[in-house]
Amino acid sequence: MEQTLSIIKPDAVAKNVVGKILDRFESAGLRIAATKKIKLSREDAEAFYAVHAQRPFFKDLVDFMISGPVVVTVLEGKDAMAKNRDLMGATNPKEAAPGTIRADFAESIDANAVHGSDSLENAANEISFFFSQREIC
Ligand code: CMP
Repeated sequence: MEQTLSIIKPDAVAKNVVGKILDRFESAGLRIAATKKIKLSREDAEAFYAVHAQRPFFKDLVDFMISGPVVVTVLEGKDAMAKNRDLMGATNPKEAAPGTIRADFAESIDANAVHGSDSLENAANEISFFFSQREIC
């Protein structure tokens, strides 16, 4: 049994498709172990994406992630990390396979609807960034 972190980004929250995206996870057999809607501070977003701090898109990424609320979720299940990434599709929605979350709900590589942990080590770090153990059921 694995756990991974999902973020439904400000573009998808603004489009009011949170429920539709959470349904994709549940319909694929993943369980929601924790979820909450929050507004990231600039410091939160910079810390969460610190690995990208030197990339040219960093400032735009941080600006976008604080432009509105996000929904952070701990997904649990067999192969949860890889399964979530399959459900999301490619980072750039223009390259995302039909039927994936990004193909169906995202507009651009910045406003790409969802984030998902890309390794089990990052998943553990990203989950503890947002949730205390008592919030995860
Ligand atoms: P995410 O999975 O949240 O991880 C970092 C984010 O940076 C990524 O999704 C994209 O939304 C954003 N981004 C913007 N430009 C790029 C790029 N050229 N390569 C990768 N990620 C990018």
